[in-house]
Amino acid sequence: MHDLTLTSVAGKSELTVVVVGHCAARLPRLVEVQAARLAKGEVSGQLNLVASEGRYLLVKLAEKPWLIGGEAWRLLGRDIIEGVRAAKAAVATVLVEGKAAEPQALAEGLLLADYRFNTMRSGKEGKRAQITVRLPGHAAAVEAGRTMASAQNLARELADLPPNLLNPTTFAARAKKVAMGLGLRLKITSGVRALTKAGFPGLVQVGKAGSAEPALVELHYEPKRAKKGATRLALVGKGITFDSGGISIKPGDKMWEMKGDMSGAAAVLAAISVIARQKPGIPVSAYLCLAENMPDRNAMRPGDIYQARNGKFIHVDNTDAEGRLVLSDVLTYACEQGATHLVDVATLTGACVVALGDKIAGLMSRHEAFAQLVRAAGQEVGEELWPLPLYGEYRGQIDHPHADINNTGGRYGGALTAGLFLGEFVPENVKWAHLDIAGPAIHTGGWRYYAKGMTGFATRSLVAIARKLG
Ligand code: BES
Ligand code: MN
Ligand code: ZN
Repeated sequence: MHDLTLTSVAGKSELTVVVVGHCAARLPRLVEVQAARLAKGEVSGQLNLVASEGRYLLVKLAEKPWLIGGEAWRLLGRDIIEGVRAAKAAVATVLVEGKAAEPQALAEGLLLADYRFNTMRSGKEGKRAQITVRLPGHAAAVEAGRTMASAQNLARELADLPPNLLNPTTFAARAKKVAMGLGLRLKITSGVRALTKAGFPGLVQVGKAGSAEPALVELHYEPKRAKKGATRLALVGKGITFDSGGISIKPGDKMWEMKGDMSGAAAVLAAISVIARQKPGIPVSAYLCLAENMPDRNAMRPGDIYQARNGKFIHVDNTDAEGRLVLSDVLTYACEQGATHLVDVATLTGACVVALGDKIAGLMSRHEAFAQLVRAAGQEVGEELWPLPLYGEYRGQIDHPHADINNTGGRYGGALTAGLFLGEFVPENVKWAHLDIAGPAIHTGGWRYYAKGMTGFATRSLVAIARKLG
């Protein structure tokens, strides 16, 4: 997958990419005329111009009101990659200057657009030509963009990996590699026995019929000099490596997409890998809740009742509402460990996709100021996290006559009752936000600079949240 090299060093170029409106470099006359026409909208899209002085590719920023937080520049990265590959160039130098330029987002766009999950293609599709793109004069931005995009591409790769290859055990092994490489403190609690003993019944209930045993992976970042009495951020990700629905089995149509039901955990892992490099002044902990949700004679049944870590009895109405079960005890645990701020990320409900569509994540929080911080963090990096209410009156929908709480809340407001369920496991004093990324993470048809496959959505937002708090 390393078929794109990004460098910030100028050199002999085969193809020169001119970002129209952002480049004051002296251009040959023919190119200048065409750039002016493109800027004025007389010609649309991009022009592949061959001039006598060399080969020029002119690209223009998309102007759409919904392209926030550098998205126009990431899309430009996609246009450049497409243009460079179409021109069959091996090296391209991108000229951008001017105050309004966002070279980090551009670098991210180049790398995100170039990602393909092609390690399992034996034909020529698996062998893409290596190209080099140069962004002269933007060394820091290129490095920052590379760090971010590589992490997000890791999240995409984990989500794209088929569920026969990525299970809780192999996911944990990948997380271990990340932790070792970055000096993060790592703790893996794996297997039904160990998880039972350590007090994570939700992971046990959901994962006990899986082909590989469930696991909880913790990665802890501690700053060298932590600010006194300060913030401690915890990130908790849903990591269902395959969600068949369990005994409440899902219909077969598009069930394969549920290999991406670990996208929350992937984003959390990717984010802490960036955070470990950025070294903020606050401690950050990542928790990956890994399990495979399968039907089996040992599987959890609808009707089962079990006691969660915080003492509450949970009635299992539907084994397909498994995400909230694996998350609940880990939310409690993260708070026990001293989290002052807590963000959970999960492909939690189809209802959230119905409510917000497949390009916007749901954001639920009991703390208005923290919700605003989280939303702003997303907007800064081009990810929409839209507030949904944790409306107290709906708590009655998850009442159960025989237990403290039911794991489903009926058809109406399904994203909200899932959020209310999670809230039962987080003490009121902890600043907690819940992100339901079911739509934008499992957006498999291709979107913006994402080729067909999973997106790694929320990676950038989580990094931005840590930066704002740190
Ligand atoms: N992983 C799914 C949610 C999901 C659905 C994500 C579609 C992405 C696309 C989750 O575990 C689930 O099955 N949720 C149920 C909850 C219901 C049984 C209360 C759902 O949304 O139908
Ligand atoms: Mn499910
Ligand atoms: Zn699920």
